[in-house]
Formats: sequence, C-alpha cells, structure tokens
Amino acid sequence: MALVYDPFVWLGEMAGMRRRRSTLLSGARGRVVEIGAGTGLNIAHYPDGIDELVLMEPEPAMRRRLARRLQRHARAARIIEAPAEHLPLTDESVDTVVSTLVLCTVDDPERALREIARVLRPGGQLLFVEHVRASSRFLAAWRSFAGGCHCNRPTVELMRACGFAVAADDGVWRGMPAIVHPLIVGRATR
Ligand SMILES: C[S@@+](CC[C@H](N)C(=O)[O-])C[C@H]1O[C@@H](n2cnc3c(N)ncnc32)[C@H](O)[C@@H]1O
Repeated sequence: MALVYDPFVWLGEMAGMRRRRSTLLSGARGRVVEIGAGTGLNIAHYPDGIDELVLMEPEPAMRRRLARRLQRHARAARIIEAPAEHLPLTDESVDTVVSTLVLCTVDDPERALREIARVLRPGGQLLFVEHVRASSRFLAAWRSFAGGCHCNRPTVELMRACGFAVAADDGVWRGMPAIVHPLIVGRATR
C-alpha cells in the first residue's frame, strides 16, 4: 500500500483533499500529534506557529516515505512507531490530535478514540477527516476497501460515545471511487 498510496490518491488530492487538509490543519495549535501519518500528505499544511509536531505511524514502509517527505519539507518533527490504540504519551499532554483517513483503518477505533481522549488536555481537540457510511445501500454494504479501509464505520457516534463533543461537516472525496466519497470533516473536543 505504501508504494501505491500517493499515486492512488493523487487525483483526490488535486480535486479537493489538499485544500481540505490545509483548511483543517490551519486550526492545529500547541503540541500536535498526528496518528497514522502515512506518507506525510499533511506535513505541508501545518501552520508555523505550533509548538511541537509528532507524527505516529505503525507501518515501516509508510514511515520510510514519511521520513523522506519530512526531510524534503525541512520541518522539525519527530516520527514515532505507534498504533493509535497505544499512544506512547502521558495523560493530558497534547493540545491537538490529527486523524485524516485513519479511524477507518485502525483495528479498534473505539480503543483509538479512548487513547486520543486520554492524551488530550482538557479543552484539547481532535481534528479529523474520515470516511463514513455511504447513503446508497449498495455502497454501504461494501465494508472494506484498498487493503483494510473500513469505509462503513459510525465514526461520529463512536466519538460521542467516547466523550467527545463533535462539530462535523459532510464532504465528498471527489476524484476517488464512489465507495470512499462520503466524508466527515471537523473538530471533536474533550
Ligand atoms: C488511508 S491511510 C491515511 C494516511 C494519511 N493519514 C493521509 O491522510 O494520507 C491510513 C494510515 O493509517 C495507518 N494505520 C493502520 N493501522 C493503524 C493503527 N492501528 N494505528 C494508527 N495508524 C494505523 C496506515 O499504516 C496508513 O498509513
């Protein structure tokens, strides 16, 4: 997946996802931790004023690409090998967690959200772009895509069940197959 990820999403990035990343991440502040950072498509969009950037990614091949992109952008950040379900961070130590197209991929989204809630400071925020269930019954029945993306998860409901207050807009991931069109974009706070 690491090999084909950037070419696979290229059209979707050009057709709006890049702009969406930029708008979302303009709200990042303080100590920022990104989960499932992948090949680093968010790196270019972090504002200069943040205090610290930590990029977490469990897959070695993704991490190698992430490190290369980080070098190209000459941005100060730490890359850490960790799944979202076990963040090697102390309680209430993070201001912003970023998750773009990750909660659909993690093995245990509820556990990941509880970890995010644990590490966020009171008033801290989770900034997210995530897949959600398609309204078409045919597409909604299609549960897994591109080697492990579960595009069918009730992510907003899970966030609320894990104690977050959620403000989310619906979006469409244009330039990509219909199964991954429906998105939610927003901010969840502890
Ligand atoms: C669809 S990609 C999204 C990558 C990147 N966030 C982006 O916006 O382009 C999903 C990423 O989640 C990572 N991932 C898979 N399981 C994970 C887990 N349990 N915890 C954190 N990240 C995970 C994958 O390795 C991959 O890099």
